[in-house]
Amino acid sequence: MEEQKKNMLSLIQPTNTPHLGNYLGAMRNWVKMQNDYNCFFGIADLHSITIRQDPVKLRGQIKESYALLIAAGLDPEKSVLFVQGHNPTHAELSWVLSCYTQFGELSRMTQFKDKSAKHPDNINAGLFTYPVLMAADILLYQADYVPVGQDQLQHLELARNIVQRFNGIYGDVFTMPEGYITKSTAKVMSLQDPSKKMSKSDENTNASVWVLDDRDTIIRKFKRAVTDSETEVCAREGKDGIINLMSIYSAATDKSFEDIEREFAGKGYGEFKLAVGEAVADMLAPMQSEFKRVFADKSYLEQCMKEGAEKAFKVSRKTLSKVYKKVGFVTF
Ligand code: TYM
Repeated sequence: MEEQKKNMLSLIQPTNTPHLGNYLGAMRNWVKMQNDYNCFFGIADLHSITIRQDPVKLRGQIKESYALLIAAGLDPEKSVLFVQGHNPTHAELSWVLSCYTQFGELSRMTQFKDKSAKHPDNINAGLFTYPVLMAADILLYQADYVPVGQDQLQHLELARNIVQRFNGIYGDVFTMPEGYITKSTAKVMSLQDPSKKMSKSDENTNASVWVLDDRDTIIRKFKRAVTDSETEVCAREGKDGIINLMSIYSAATDKSFEDIEREFAGKGYGEFKLAVGEAVADMLAPMQSEFKRVFADKSYLEQCMKEGAEKAFKVSRKTLSKVYKKVGFVTF
């Protein structure tokens, strides 16, 4: 008998165009999974308003991010591609789970601490309960695996704690999710400060490469990447900037670190940075041209979103009604 496929789920926030970290740490890996798992991939629009957003810009970015999933190679016939806010069960389960999550647990989340420090005027309750909504996303689809970058592991651990607590009281309601990490690209670092992760909210425009940046911009950003005062391309301790560039180059070309060290032996950083920029531009080019085509076809996009929302709802409502029954609500 054929073994049943495991479920996989991951979302991305539409707070900006995705950057190279989102692409290498998440999106690109999703594409590789879609034949082997029942996949649910989506746009976390509900999460994005924990930081104040411009409505017109946000609407555009939700559509752009959704089109990028398809342009990156996700097939709406194979994977369920949906927008979180199109499926009301996310907010509904989130409420229930928030009653099974402790204040202390949420207070320990480093992302909450970082974001509150960054936006001291808007430390809203949503920012605090953000990981509960994320747990709802995962648990609604009974996800076995959650492919994410390293920065989301703490949130995933919280989801696992919620599962343990909830199942401990009510029996086997939720599947225990596991992180699915691609080690080499789990944390792509800023090009301007290799001690910080590449981030959507970085104010330095040279720190992040956006997946829709044109070729010249990509190459220019890599040329300006902060490295060190040496000249040797190698993965020695203390060479964080070079190691980051080597990881990116390796992800873009499939070359090992040894191959890269050999290729650039005796050549300076300038030549290496140019090669990384070109390799990244080549890697992103097919997605960029596919994006133009998909994004221009508004009715196709809308159709995909609608079908994705229906398919997502069909699965998630089963989990939600099970939860409602278990906690003692009256259901019909
Ligand atoms: P978000 O939108 O910040 O990032 C999307 C994905 O990209 C990964 N990522 C990175 N990977 C490597 N290097 C980096 N510098 C880097 N920056 C970001 C993230 O780990 C993520 O996988 N809370 C989530 C969205 C979310 C979600 C979920 C994810 C909502 N619900 C359920 C998984 C399951 C977030 O803000 O991701």
